[in-house]
Amino acid sequence: MAFELPPLPYDKSALEPHMSAETFEYHHGKHHKAYVDKTNGWIEEKGLAGLSLLQVIKKAKDTGDKGLFNNSAQIWNHTFFWHCLAPAGQQPSGKLASLIESGFGSTDELLKKLAAEAVGHFASGWAWLVLEGDALKVTSYHDADTPVAYEGVKPLLTLDVWEHAYYIDYRNARPKFAETVLGNIINWDFVAQNLDGEGASRADQQQ
Ligand SMILES: [Fe+2]
Repeated sequence: MAFELPPLPYDKSALEPHMSAETFEYHHGKHHKAYVDKTNGWIEEKGLAGLSLLQVIKKAKDTGDKGLFNNSAQIWNHTFFWHCLAPAGQQPSGKLASLIESGFGSTDELLKKLAAEAVGHFASGWAWLVLEGDALKVTSYHDADTPVAYEGVKPLLTLDVWEHAYYIDYRNARPKFAETVLGNIINWDFVAQNLDGEGASRADQQQ
């Protein structure tokens, strides 16, 4: 019984030139995998057999097990992040476009706000678009912290702002990374799907 490193939902070169195959080789193949391996190493010792990934994250939070929380939450965060990306060309439409317009004025304004959140976030973490009640909200979480650890916060879209997310393609230029990814390779169909409030389940897995 173990968690798996979920395969990418596209070829590792599908998002070039905005995100390179080499980035995926490290970010997915090494960083994401390390979180999976570390969590799996604790399954017997910490009595986690049979629990889903979301149940492990909740248990780690409830028991104050920071190591387990960080690693299991990072499995979920990265899986969700990969699904938030897609080859260039999509734009928000339908209900999502209406919510963005009423909440932020336009998609461009939302992207500016998300990029500012990503760039302004000190050190490692994740920038997020979440649903709270019926409203869209831009926020960020530190390190491995994740909206699925909080009641009433529904994940829609995330951007990894750990340095390992951009150093190969953008070196230290987090602003360029944030603007490029947000402006070109967001999977808006996936974001729109998450308006049903079930986004947490889309990066969950069973052992
Ligand atoms: Fe990452």
